[in-house]
Amino acid sequence: MPRVSYAFFGLAALCGLIGTIWGEHMGRTDNHSTFIAHAHLNLVGWVSMAVMGGFYALAAGTYPRWLAWTNFALQALAAVCLTIAMVYLMAFVDRRFVPVAIVGSASAIFSMVAFLAAVLISWRNSARSPG
Ligand code: HEM
Ligand code: HEM
Repeated sequence: MPRVSYAFFGLAALCGLIGTIWGEHMGRTDNHSTFIAHAHLNLVGWVSMAVMGGFYALAAGTYPRWLAWTNFALQALAAVCLTIAMVYLMAFVDRRFVPVAIVGSASAIFSMVAFLAAVLISWRNSARSPG
């Protein structure tokens, strides 16, 4: 498996671990005030990173490596910034975290653009070989 996929799965597992401990804590304390941040850490960190890492493993050798690593860096930044921004902005309504939300949102969008580009380049490159 390519190193970029190990990076995606490593960070996905870390986000998944923190996200599930967080979920358990919300349930046990009956305090769901941070559930939006919990949801995004799990969906942007655990689920999306695992999906992307899986693609880069399956399509190894058909996409530019720099693009896959750019996708990884943007997705990691998105997971961290969106989670922090959603805790402080949406749960504690602290407006000082608006810039963190902007960085998180922008990196989430650019990360998806990078992933789409990688899928399309991989598709074009693999179309040249049979199967
Ligand atoms: C130990 C595991 C987990 C526990 C105990 C847990 C617990 C919770 C709790 C208490 C809420 C708040 C519900 C509410 O107030 O509406 C919540 C919301 C949510 N969780 Fe988890 N969670 C866990 C793992 C996960 C995982 C692995 C994912 C994603 C793959 C996930 C995705 C979500 C989503 C999307 C929401 C928001 C749902 C909504 O819009 O109401 N959770 N979770
Ligand atoms: C630019 C990045 C993103 C931003 C700024 C963002 C922001 C938001 C906001 C403001 C809500 C409404 C929360 C509420 O008041 O109930 C929401 C809900 C939700 N988002 Fe996102 N989101 C982003 C990316 C994503 C991604 C990539 C996924 C899935 C992989 C996702 C899954 C969800 C889900 C399932 C809900 C409903 C559950 C909840 O309320 O927590 N979001 N998002």
